[in-house]
Amino acid sequence: MADLSKHEPKILLQMKNIHKKFPGVYALKDVNFELRAGEVHALLGENGAGKSTLIKCLAGIYIPEEGEVIVNGKSHIMQSVADSQAHGISVIHQELCLVPYLSIAENMFLGRERNVAGIIKRGQENEEAKKMLARLGLDFDPNTLIKDLSIAQQQMVEIAKALSVKADILVMDEPTASLTDKETEVLFETMRQLKAEGIGIIYISHRMSELFAITDRVTIMRDGQYVGTVNTRETTNDQLIAMMVGRELTQLYFKDEVKPGKVVLEVKDLVSPPFVNGVSFSIREGEIVGMSGLVGAGRSETAHCIFGIDDKYTGEILIDGKPVHIRSVRQAMQNGIALVPENRKEEGLVLINSVGYNLTLTILHEIFRGHPLGNPSRESEEIARHIQELAIKTPTAEQLAENLSGGNQQKIVIAKWLATKPKLLILDEPTRGVDVGARAEIYGFMNELAKQGVAILMISSDLPEVINMSDRVLVMHEGRVTANLSKHELSQETIMLYATGNGGNINAA
Ligand SMILES: Nc1ncnc2c1ncn2[C@@H]1O[C@H](COP(=O)(O)OP(=O)(O)OP(=O)(O)O)[C@@H](O)[C@H]1O
Ligand SMILES: [Mg+2]
Repeated sequence: MADLSKHEPKILLQMKNIHKKFPGVYALKDVNFELRAGEVHALLGENGAGKSTLIKCLAGIYIPEEGEVIVNGKSHIMQSVADSQAHGISVIHQELCLVPYLSIAENMFLGRERNVAGIIKRGQENEEAKKMLARLGLDFDPNTLIKDLSIAQQQMVEIAKALSVKADILVMDEPTASLTDKETEVLFETMRQLKAEGIGIIYISHRMSELFAITDRVTIMRDGQYVGTVNTRETTNDQLIAMMVGRELTQLYFKDEVKPGKVVLEVKDLVSPPFVNGVSFSIREGEIVGMSGLVGAGRSETAHCIFGIDDKYTGEILIDGKPVHIRSVRQAMQNGIALVPENRKEEGLVLINSVGYNLTLTILHEIFRGHPLGNPSRESEEIARHIQELAIKTPTAEQLAENLSGGNQQKIVIAKWLATKPKLLILDEPTRGVDVGARAEIYGFMNELAKQGVAILMISSDLPEVINMSDRVLVMHEGRVTANLSKHELSQETIMLYATGNGGNINAA
């Protein structure tokens, strides 16, 4: 008899006709999904399409109202996280789940401590943790507390933790959102090894190029519904986007010409060791200035000085030509500065409060001005306007922020800072985790603000974004601006040259 096993890969998982409702939201409507052994299968869809919800139905966090889940040939709806793990499923969630005040090793073995007669064997745990980190090319001390790691490092620990569980099915919900290209490549190498071992991987990412680099198939979802499944090798970027958004997407990048006005921001010789080592630049009204560089180049840290989060820097900041004293976020806001932070979960959102509360948080003083008891109609007007303008997907303004999809939480943070009507807007990785449609909306906003004379500093690791949306680009390397490139000088190669320090410093006075 012919051996069919080579041609018919084993099916690890089937999810059939899955339905899941939340109050006011029909999150999953009749969704189907299948995972084979040894494949990387992407889940693709716009923000709020239902990807994370489907994963949570597999992880035992949500129980679907209808539908069937078949794991290794047996029909079984996961009843709890432990139940899901016992069925060989390991999940890296979109929100990091590490405990900040525990060490790397303690986090990795949380709930499954290595012990003998009730005594935890920390030494053994540390050793195993070290091995798992090494697999991802990481050389951390397993005793390091999570709170002392950067977001990208925490993400890598989360991945190492998921890999340490013996699983047949590995789920990764946006594992690369905070990673650089280099870390992503290490992760992909590990994924290739796992594939070869016959493990099936469900992979979620908004970075289209990654889908073509690592996946075998893509299942597309739209508005909680199953759209289709295609072989990655037989599809194109445009086809995937069309399936995802349900229409042809008009041009993603669109940059209006704006004649720059007077200088809004000037910084002179900012220093805050170890990441900021003498930064000087200026931005004019109506300008969108990109800021490029590798992780650790000091871009976010420079923004933290200008926004008063870092209050220990030396150097000078001038707004509208006048030196200003900025040693707190309040002072920065008083000077007309807004910052959309890189780490939105910690710096940007109050998750346990409503969408509306978060949207008006930065302008409460305005709403209360002349209305000591508040001004409900003005407030709901503002909220409704933001929800509509940024197309935030939420049933009502009363929904808790934590119930929104990852990308929609992001839009709230952007909207909330726009509400302050800044003269200088600093965006730190503005489109991270945002789907292509919402990206276009955010770019449209930047254009609009630039036309109104707002000066915009856009920190971004996404080179096509930086090149297409900026009037000029500052490149940083080791805490200094190494190049100030005008529009016609922009290319990926030139930016990388200065970002790696190989182009010297053409910005030095
Ligand atoms: N616990 C919840 N309560 C209420 N609504 C929820 C809850 N969890 C998710 N939703 C809603 O279900 C829909 C699908 O959300 P989900 O998080 O699955 O989207 P997603 O595809 O993962 O999006 P993203 O790309 O932004 O992460 C959204 O409208 C979201 O607001
Ligand atoms: Mg999600």
